[in-house]
Amino acid sequence: MRQLHTIAELQDWRQSVPAGKTVGFVPTMGALHRGHRALIERARRECDLVVVSIFVNPTQFNDPKDLHSYPQPLEKDLEACRDEGADLVFLPRRESMYPDDYRYVVHEREASLALEGKQRPGHFDGVLTVVLKLFNLVAPHRAYFGEKDWQQLQLVKEMAAALFLPLEVVPCETVRESDGLALSSRNVRLSPEARAQAPRFAAAMREAATAEEAAERLRGEGFAVEYVADRWGRRLGAVQLGGVRLIDNMPLSQTMAGGEG
Ligand code: PAF
Repeated sequence: MRQLHTIAELQDWRQSVPAGKTVGFVPTMGALHRGHRALIERARRECDLVVVSIFVNPTQFNDPKDLHSYPQPLEKDLEACRDEGADLVFLPRRESMYPDDYRYVVHEREASLALEGKQRPGHFDGVLTVVLKLFNLVAPHRAYFGEKDWQQLQLVKEMAAALFLPLEVVPCETVRESDGLALSSRNVRLSPEARAQAPRFAAAMREAATAEEAAERLRGEGFAVEYVADRWGRRLGAVQLGGVRLIDNMPLSQTMAGGEG
């Protein structure tokens, strides 16, 4: 598995890929868990070459504390990429990803301002800008994104369509712990008590008939609720628990609103 750090190295590598070979891409911020592994594993099955990027993108963090405490277990991450059969890991430095000092920004004017975007102003500008830069560098045929970040997935898909990017954005189902907690790099920061409480988040979202009922139930159970909303055929939510931010979503058909319970 190759590890590349500079833009020029990655561009050289991309130019050396024979025309008939398909490239699959998994963009990450590291702290890889089984959810990321599932993305890499799927890319491995569907593409000739698999590129993973590990870059803690500063422009998508609206809270500097969150950026500074973001876990970065590099050796473990490289091991996970190797285990899953990645061909190349791209580990750029901050300065090389932003030679323009973030003067050029991708901004979506509607969906990016709701829910996550409302709670975290500027977040999706940072995400879309870095994803476009990475897409331009890696020039993948397919890019793999988890459904846990549903709003991000929709915005990336729509950006690819709006800007005529010649690639397929492949959605991959959320991976959960056996108790229902959606996997997230931030879960390692949960105290044992918060970890025990955390699965109640997905449970309340599923078991409530309305978003309001889910929010009320979560507040009653000690979560600080940022939002719970039914949109785009899904129930989406964000909460804080013991200082850790958790997000989750599921199709409305899998909640009491959809009748399946
Ligand atoms: O989902 C993430 O980990 C990040 O938002 C992404 C897509 C790697 C962009 O920094």
